[in-house]
Amino acid sequence: MNPTNSVLIIGATSGIAKSLANEYSGLKYDLILLARNVNRLKPLQSDLQLKYGNNIILVEFELLETNFHEKILNDFSFLPETTISAVGYLGNHDLALTDFNEANKILQSNFTAIVSLLNLIANRYASKGKGTIVGISSVAGDRGRMSNYIYGSAKAGFSAYLSGLRNRMYNHNVHVITVKPGFVDTRMTEHLTLPPLLTSSPQHVARKIIRAIQKKKNMLYISSKWKWIMNLIKIIPERIFKKMKL
Ligand SMILES: NC(=O)c1ccc[n+]([C@@H]2O[C@H](COP(=O)([O-])OP(=O)(O)OC[C@H]3O[C@@H](n4cnc5c(N)ncnc54)[C@H](OP(=O)(O)O)[C@@H]3O)[C@@H](O)[C@H]2O)c1
Repeated sequence: MNPTNSVLIIGATSGIAKSLANEYSGLKYDLILLARNVNRLKPLQSDLQLKYGNNIILVEFELLETNFHEKILNDFSFLPETTISAVGYLGNHDLALTDFNEANKILQSNFTAIVSLLNLIANRYASKGKGTIVGISSVAGDRGRMSNYIYGSAKAGFSAYLSGLRNRMYNHNVHVITVKPGFVDTRMTEHLTLPPLLTSSPQHVARKIIRAIQKKKNMLYISSKWKWIMNLIKIIPERIFKKMKL
């Protein structure tokens, strides 16, 4: 394994992450997959290794246990030069309005705990003078809406963090990409009825992320439809927006 042709994927049991693992294996990249239940990744690991002959290392981690983040990285024999964070938790919005434990879990899982891990990775990349960090945020962070503003505010915080990190890392030759998917057909959304025209497959998302890394994009809306929808939503004046049921 060598750092240049390998990728670290955080939250590797995610639908999008599994598609990324598939695509990168097809490109003969080696992978370090971080997940809180690595047993769920063993069938994928053996399928991909058999098909593509790449190395895939599975590492168990719990994102919310931030005290262990440094140890997890120290235990790696090397750090891949590309890191993709696919971790996320939609949570139960209605519950989060009355139970702060749920609200806090949403905020930590989508924002603060990822900051802990990405700070450590960014510092290591900065001292080596190279690396790429991809954070999967969401269009939900573009403007707070009544239906999901706890998750949305965590993603807004994460998008702002990635923007600042990109700015800080520029002089260290470390590239940071913010990914903003709209609806994606994964476990996160399986309880929802999604509009087909506004929904992407995880394979499509994975391919667009890999292309964005190759092209050194800064910001990636997975679908241009969502980019336009969010641009419109963002310009609605607050005095009108506050009366809308969104
Ligand atoms: N699906 C969508 O419509 C959509 C839209 C916009 C943005 N996104 C974002 O895209 C990214 C990937 O999501 P997805 O759609 O692929 O959803 P997903 O299949 O539900 O994946 C979420 C991942 O986060 C992991 N995770 C959550 N909390 C964790 C914790 N405390 N410790 C370790 N791992 C944890 C999950 O692990 P377990 O498997 O162990 O639960 C899972 O691997 C997320 O950041 C999500 O917010 C998704």
